[in-house]
Amino acid sequence: MSNFYHQTILSVHHWTDTLFSFTATRDPGFRFLNGQFAMIGLQVDGRPLLRAYSLASANYEETLEFFSIKVPNGPLTSRLQHMKVGDELLVGRKATGTLITGDLLPGKRLYLLATGTGLAPFLSIIKDPEVYDLYEKVVLVHGCRTVKELAYMDWITKELPKNPFFGEQAAEKLLYYPTVTREPFHHQGRITDLTRSGKLFDDLGLPVLDPENDRVMLCGSPDMLEDFRVILAELHMSEASHTVQGHFAIEKAFVER
Ligand code: A2P
Repeated sequence: MSNFYHQTILSVHHWTDTLFSFTATRDPGFRFLNGQFAMIGLQVDGRPLLRAYSLASANYEETLEFFSIKVPNGPLTSRLQHMKVGDELLVGRKATGTLITGDLLPGKRLYLLATGTGLAPFLSIIKDPEVYDLYEKVVLVHGCRTVKELAYMDWITKELPKNPFFGEQAAEKLLYYPTVTREPFHHQGRITDLTRSGKLFDDLGLPVLDPENDRVMLCGSPDMLEDFRVILAELHMSEASHTVQGHFAIEKAFVER
């Protein structure tokens, strides 16, 4: 048996010169938890070229979705960005990852903090009806350089609340906070700075982070994750693992170098 499912590209959407999303068929045998990632890629010169990609689709959806940057001269993304409908996509058989609600201690509020394509696993999680049963509020913060990079903003604000199964719950519980750092916008600044200053919580009308009630998932650049490790350690929050529940879980956004 091959290590990969051979899937077919169904759509490609370019958000900017550097960001795109694509969907593909899903083998009925491919199982994953919302928030996990898989190895995906292409056959190049007869050999598989693969990178880790978070699933942006939810685990009950019939198709797979991914959100990617275009790395200049990146071996995989320079090819992936030119994919056309009908092309083949390799999908590794096993999904894995740390952004799993079950690994977190029970809490009142779940913060999903992303920069750039770190948004991807959280798209899967905010489509998970269970997350709205688990938490009183789910706060999705997406930090980018420019407004155009705030991919999925329309879908999150306009489409998700219309979901026939959990749209009402999402409308009531999901708070979306997009913020940009390099041009004017109604929310500006790095997520780290907004957290430290308390502006994020003021704007949302929520109390500042506390280990008793708040749980955090992080996905973004290595620098952002390191800075948050310090912030969360100062708050005496502990990192979750598959064996010991904790206050926060971290996954790096997979940027190929
Ligand atoms: P900034 O514009 O101040 O660098 P990138 O496109 O480089 O991945 O960045 C995505 C977003 O993450 C940008 O808004 C960027 O802000 C922000 N960012 C970069 N480094 C950090 C960090 N250490 N902590 C928080 N946000 C960061």
